[in-house]
This record gives sequence, structure tokens and C-alpha cells, in this order.
Amino acid sequence: MTAERIDGKIFAEGLRGRVGVLAAEFTARTGRKAGLAVVLVGEDAASQVYVRSKGKATIEAGMAGFEHRLPADTPEADLIALVETLNADPTVDGILVQLPLPAHCDEGKVIATINPDKDVDGFHVINAGRLAVGQAGFVPCTPLGCLMLLRDRLGDLSGLDAVVIGRSNIVGKPMAQLLIAQSCTVTVAHSRTRNLADVVRRADIVVAAVGRPEMVKGDWIKPGATVIDVGINRVGGSEPGKTRLVGDVDFAGASAVAGAITPVPGGVGPMTIAVLLRNALVAAYRNAGIDLPENAI
Ligand code: GUN
Repeated sequence: MTAERIDGKIFAEGLRGRVGVLAAEFTARTGRKAGLAVVLVGEDAASQVYVRSKGKATIEAGMAGFEHRLPADTPEADLIALVETLNADPTVDGILVQLPLPAHCDEGKVIATINPDKDVDGFHVINAGRLAVGQAGFVPCTPLGCLMLLRDRLGDLSGLDAVVIGRSNIVGKPMAQLLIAQSCTVTVAHSRTRNLADVVRRADIVVAAVGRPEMVKGDWIKPGATVIDVGINRVGGSEPGKTRLVGDVDFAGASAVAGAITPVPGGVGPMTIAVLLRNALVAAYRNAGIDLPENAI
């Protein structure tokens, strides 16, 4: 058996298209563009790439992008003052502070400063709490993107056994909350889990978010299961042409057993920015007091 390939790139393109249509409608109704501010502190190479792509995607969706690049030695108080300015700016609907921050800035404190109704990353404890109790808020982009791919493939998830490997605040924990809300039976596995292979073998849905290259083996997968691979790991050394990206799942091995699987690259990766744009658009509609139909995007 060869698993169906879940194409996140195509799904993300569709989502970005729908966001673009609703962004144009927002502009027509309010006379301004939905606005997303992205704050980058320091020179981290990967963060610079992410921030550039987020800015480009924002403009392509017909929204206004506000980019704030600050030097690595920016005092924490100045960063917090910038976030407060963005909170008060009515043209800014969403605020994203790119992580990681330099060591002298307390990430928790900076995130706590963001107005939860502009927190399009869904990292503020208010939004984590809203997700936990089932209130409308913002959900972190990567797990929400994973859920969209699962719903698109499987429809109703009710009663399915799901295993989430990884317990980070950004992916594992919110992913588990989302799956509970879909009436899955959810197990959260992590580095201390005993008999991980046996735990994974029970799952109809496997979401791997551990950051360890090809850790989940093909013979761990229940036949026909749906596998979502969040990992993006660079392997093969630093020589140009030698590095390649692999996920947390042994793709070839798992493809022989699973019903469907996301590739790396081209699976979950493209979903993250598309969902960020979606969250920013939802923020704009909410902040302007305009109803957006529940499942419009
Ligand atoms: N760093 C890596 N991924 C993310 C993300 O999704 N949001 C933010 N703010 N920083 C990140």
C-alpha cells in the first residue's frame, strides 16, 4: 500500500486565495486594509527568512504589512514600548513578535504585553486559556494548519484515536486541545514516554512534532492511519548541495503503511504562513466589529 500524499502547498494556496478575497471585501467595507505588524529583534538567519516571507505573503493577500526590525541589543523595555504602540494603533489588527528573542529579552513578558485580540500567533496565555475552555480566540498557526489538513482528508474526526508526539506550547499542547475539541481520544507523547512505538501503533491520527529527524518509523504506524509530520530537520551536513530537509517521520517507511501522509517539504510547512494570514484577517474583522461567518475560512 502506498499512502496518499497530503499536499499542504496546494491547500495553503487555496486558503491564501480565500483570505485574499475576504481581505479585499474588508478593504471595500472599511476603507482600509487589514494590517499585520511583524517585529524581528536581531539577526537570526532563519528568523530573517521567515519574516521576509511573512511580509511578502501579507502584501500578496492584499493586507498592509508593518515590519519592525530592531537591533539585537535593543533593551527589553524598548521592545515592550513598541508592542504597546502597536496595541494602540488602530491600523494594526495583528501583531507577531518573531521568536526566539535575544537572551536578555523575556519572551513570556513580551508576549504578555501583546493585546490578546491582536495576538495572531495565539501565544498569549489568554488565548491558550480560551482554546483550553473552548472560547473563540487565536490558535497557534501550525497546529491549526494541521487540523485543517486532517479535516480536509478525514472530515469528522469524532471518536478517532490521536497521538501527538511533542508537548511544546507552540505545537504539541494546542494540537492536543484542538483534537480534544474535535472529540478525538488524545494521547500526548514526549521524550519520557515509555513504549512510544506501541503508543503510536494505536493511533488513527499521528501528529509528529518532536524535531528529531525520521524518528517515527514505518512499523510504528497503524495500517491506514493519517500521519501529519510537523518536523523540519536539516540533515546531511553543511556542504552546499548535501543538505536536505526531512521530517520527524521516516517518510518512505511510513508511506508503505499509512493511509495518508504529509511530505516534508510541501506538507505542514506552507500551511503556517497561510494560517497566519487567516488569523490576521479574522483579527481585522473582529476588531472592526464585522461578522465573519464561522467557517468562512
Ligand atoms: N519562530 C518560529 N516559528 C514561529 C512562529 O510561528 N511565530 C513566531 N512568533 N515566532 C516563530
